[in-house]
Amino acid sequence: MAEQAILSYLETHEEIADSGNFAAECGIDHAEIVNAIKSLHGFLYVESQDIKKETWVLTDEGKRYAAEGSPEVQLFLAVPAEGSIAKDELQKKFDPAIFKIGCSQAGKNKWVEMGRQVSRKVVQVEDKVKDLLLKIQKGQVIGQADINSLKARKLIVLQTWKGYSVRKGPSYAPQREKFATDLTRENLQSGDWKKLKFKEYNFNAKGPPSECGHLHPLNKMKDCIKRIFRMMGFEEMPTNRYVESSFWNFDALFQPQQHPARDSHDTFFLKTPSTTMQLPEDYVERVKQVHESGGYGSRGYNYEWKREEANKNLLRTHTTAISSRMLYKLAQDTKQNGFTPKKYFSIDRVFRNEAVDRTHLAEFHQIEGLICDRGLTLGHLIGVLEDFFKRLGMSNLRFKPAYNPYTEPSMEIFSYHEGFGKWVEIGNSGMFRPEMLQPMGFPEDVRVIAWGLSLERPTMILYGIDNIRDLFGHRVDLDLIKKSPLCLIGIK
Ligand code: PHE
Repeated sequence: MAEQAILSYLETHEEIADSGNFAAECGIDHAEIVNAIKSLHGFLYVESQDIKKETWVLTDEGKRYAAEGSPEVQLFLAVPAEGSIAKDELQKKFDPAIFKIGCSQAGKNKWVEMGRQVSRKVVQVEDKVKDLLLKIQKGQVIGQADINSLKARKLIVLQTWKGYSVRKGPSYAPQREKFATDLTRENLQSGDWKKLKFKEYNFNAKGPPSECGHLHPLNKMKDCIKRIFRMMGFEEMPTNRYVESSFWNFDALFQPQQHPARDSHDTFFLKTPSTTMQLPEDYVERVKQVHESGGYGSRGYNYEWKREEANKNLLRTHTTAISSRMLYKLAQDTKQNGFTPKKYFSIDRVFRNEAVDRTHLAEFHQIEGLICDRGLTLGHLIGVLEDFFKRLGMSNLRFKPAYNPYTEPSMEIFSYHEGFGKWVEIGNSGMFRPEMLQPMGFPEDVRVIAWGLSLERPTMILYGIDNIRDLFGHRVDLDLIKKSPLCLIGIK
């Protein structure tokens, strides 16, 4: 309709001088006229020139005074014609902003005497501000000095209006020709195609967005954290085994066989194959010894250690099972080639027989880091944790003494969460016990500092997801995965 109105008008007129006026005359929305002009311009039906107009319009405050009167007049009218009113009394009649402006303007105009008592100094006043605002509202012109004073009081602002003047273009025609966009079977059968005019190809047009794969937020987070570890000089441990023996998952970590975590209520044991095929026998013997009667300065647990318990296969309950394998390997290598310090990390899936709720699933991901070197102390651990978490954007850390069977001392890690306004637990850490490291065969002064956390936790915090089932599992909304932003946490 807008398009036809423009073309028809130009058939008999030289020019549309102002698209705004033209839109008003035709009763068509100006935005629609502008779109039609742009489209006709593109096909050279018309030529157009920009018109910019600046007009003053009322701000919200201006609109309010235009309706209710200026604060100074409101104030003046609230002061009795004879006698006076206590300032406190007067103040109660107004909202604080109006009262403040009213007092200062009425005072400046010498309309009232301001003291603890307020009285009128003139008999009558005119609401010039309101009159000026009403004029502007009606589109009438007012003097520059008045404009300046209203502008200074932020009652009016300049608004730029954009429109066009339009003339015939080189391809002008009173009707827009319709071009065919597709060559159809009917066109071919009827012979239409001989007469049809086809729309030219627009090689600059954007095609529809192509479908492609999207990374899950957990994978993006995993990538970020891998990058952080690599920047800090850590090597990735091979985590490609969900099935682990109880030996590497628990016994090697000095976790006693009657520990509650080793119960089927907490751990998924495998039916087939239910036991492991192979363990390093001499090392198994040393682990048995340290559990039963200690050694290396430890008293051990004083119970009868059972091989059958260690043989049981399970779904690993933590990636620390991988750390124990890797440290064992490193200790063997040390015996042959001498000791080399190592920094290892892993990020992979672990399994626990948990009741599923909004913060727990039976499978989740763990991030684990460890440093193995001579003479490491708790101070080193704290320093490394501060560095690591700072790169994840968490700089305010606190540590709380904790207990793990395989670390001593152990510390829970807390970070202050600005959004939640409280300290949240973000990980667990500690120094691996001599009862774990010595049977592996490390020299006595080699220490291992280590920490672990879930991958889900920082991801949920970062993506503002409060139910873990919305992040992982069959209920995940695919749109969340398609639209989730790249994860750029404070990597430094
Ligand atoms: N394995 C611990 C857990 O599952 C994390 C941890 C790793 C703690 C390394 C201390 C040292 O919570």
